[in-house]
Amino acid sequence: MNTKGSVSALFLCFLTLFTLTDCSTCETNKLEGDSLTFKLTDTQLKDNDRFFIKKDDKIVVPKRNRKQKGPGIVKDKFLELQHVKLSDSGTYSVEVFDVNGNTLKSYSESVCVYAKVPKPRVNITCQDEKVDLRCDVEGGKSISFSWYKNGKDLKKNVLNFSTNIEENKSKYTCTAQNPVNKNTSDPVEEACFKPGFDFWSMPCVLVDGGGLIVILIIVLVTVACRACKRREKQQRELPKSTIKSNSSKVLQSEC
Ligand SMILES: *[C@@H]1O[C@H](CO)[C@@H](O)[C@H](O)[C@H]1NC(C)=O
Ligand SMILES: *[C@@H]1O[C@H](CO)[C@@H](O)[C@H](O)[C@H]1NC(C)=O
Ligand SMILES: *[C@@H]1O[C@H](CO)[C@@H](O)[C@H](O)[C@H]1NC(C)=O
Ligand SMILES: *[C@@H]1O[C@H](CO)[C@@H](O)[C@H](O)[C@H]1NC(C)=O
Repeated sequence: MNTKGSVSALFLCFLTLFTLTDCSTCETNKLEGDSLTFKLTDTQLKDNDRFFIKKDDKIVVPKRNRKQKGPGIVKDKFLELQHVKLSDSGTYSVEVFDVNGNTLKSYSESVCVYAKVPKPRVNITCQDEKVDLRCDVEGGKSISFSWYKNGKDLKKNVLNFSTNIEENKSKYTCTAQNPVNKNTSDPVEEACFKPGFDFWSMPCVLVDGGGLIVILIIVLVTVACRACKRREKQQRELPKSTIKSNSSKVLQSEC
């Protein structure tokens, strides 16, 4: 293996460990309210074997044997801490000794406790030609996202993205999840498409249905009157025309 590569990988790893407090590389992930168990022994825990547990160098289970009272419940080979809280996240070290003080077990374990993921909401914003979609979810750490369009996985694991506006309406849902829990939004329809802005639709945009009819009537009457007046003029210029006086009267009264 490339030494330089692995050294920089290691360095990056440390950098990540120290910059991210909610390090997602926990050995144990728990949902708030779950119980946390630590193995005390591989064989059989004797009545006079003693153990203690520290979290981030603070004692959480003072040294005792299985019969003595203290935080946690000994169940078979394990010690169980019930109803973990978010603040119980940390690095635990477990030490177990026999009656003579010899170490039987010694290890540490990083634990992350996560809250239940609240129901996310799809937030759709129509832009000029694009549509912005965002999965809004309150709080929470180490949340990742998935997107579905009409039930189909879009393979987009991002908080937000933009896409083209489509004529056909689609329903979007998003899922927000942390390592132990997930929740899915209600579907939201993307309805950003507006009919094109061409010549014929312009009057329709400017004037609504009723107004359009009035304009059409005005245009028709104007055209009819012009035709009427032209005819009148022609009749005056040609008094002995073949046009029956009856029909010209009808036309005149129509104006
Ligand atoms: C999603 O979150 C809501 C509250 O925000 C909760 O009532 C519901 O039970 C959650 N659903 C799942 C599947 O966890
Ligand atoms: C959607 O997001 C915008 C900002 O991007 C915000 O102003 C708006 O309130 C959000 N809508 C909903 C329903 O949360
Ligand atoms: C996500 O939203 C942020 C802030 O609203 C924006 O700056 C960014 O460009 C968006 N990302 C994508 C891929 O749309
Ligand atoms: C829109 O829907 C219609 C009918 O469901 C379909 O024939 C058409 O191909 C769709 N158009 C696009 C761009 O998906």
